[in-house]
Amino acid sequence: MNLTETNVTTIINNLSVSYSDEGPVEAPVVIFIHGFPLNKSMWDSQLEALKEEYRVIAYDVRGHGDSDAGYEDFSIDLFANDLISFMDNLKIRKATLCGLSMGGYIALNAIGNYQERFNALILSDTQCIADTPEVRENRLLAIENIRKNGLDDFAHESIKNLFAPVSLLSKETEIDSVREMIVNTSKKSIYNSLHALATRKETFSKLSDIKIPVLILVGSEDKITPPEMAELMHKKINGSQLNIIEHAGHLSNMENPFEFNYQIRKFISTVY
Ligand code: MLT
Repeated sequence: MNLTETNVTTIINNLSVSYSDEGPVEAPVVIFIHGFPLNKSMWDSQLEALKEEYRVIAYDVRGHGDSDAGYEDFSIDLFANDLISFMDNLKIRKATLCGLSMGGYIALNAIGNYQERFNALILSDTQCIADTPEVRENRLLAIENIRKNGLDDFAHESIKNLFAPVSLLSKETEIDSVREMIVNTSKKSIYNSLHALATRKETFSKLSDIKIPVLILVGSEDKITPPEMAELMHKKINGSQLNIIEHAGHLSNMENPFEFNYQIRKFISTVY
């Protein structure tokens, strides 16, 4: 039986969580976790590309997209626990995880605590270090700026960093869609997520415990989590593969979906 459920909801930890769930129900499961402050729709092209062969699921992290925010302070620990509850709720014993940026922080946290629940890991445009004091300071400044100038301005400034210069000139549809994702996220959730990002712990010291296959992808022009960050993880994770996605910045899956999808399909086919 094939699933074609987009924008369905389930209740986990008293929150309504929105997700898309496509592909053959019995096929190996691949779960996609989006970056900040985006939502599951950033993975549309990957779901489309893989849904013939795999059960592909993309969900909205709490406070993003159509998922509830709840009342707790956000943290990467909380997001990772939500992921495990989400898998339990859908009766998914094991999955391959693919996380981009904040999604990668969540994936690394979940693998650190529940490695037995995962077959393989794809880390895209992400890193294993905690924030430097300067980056932490910038997150607080971002909160002040949003309070003063609003989300349109925040989206405008973010887009300049998220996309490679070549994409800024050529990826109008993707840029519009990212802008829409940002301005439709509540300010409260953006502040809460910025705190979660600023206070996250490093995962570098746990990378050598990872025993499952790992693919690391990074846009050649990623300014937020540059290729050096991908190299650092690659060196520490035994047997990991690293591929640079050309003509892409931080959102490599949206900026060069052809290459990104080729790499993840090739990797996942070696896992199952
Ligand atoms: C993201 O894309 O999820 C964020 O840029 C992550 C971060 O700011 O550390």
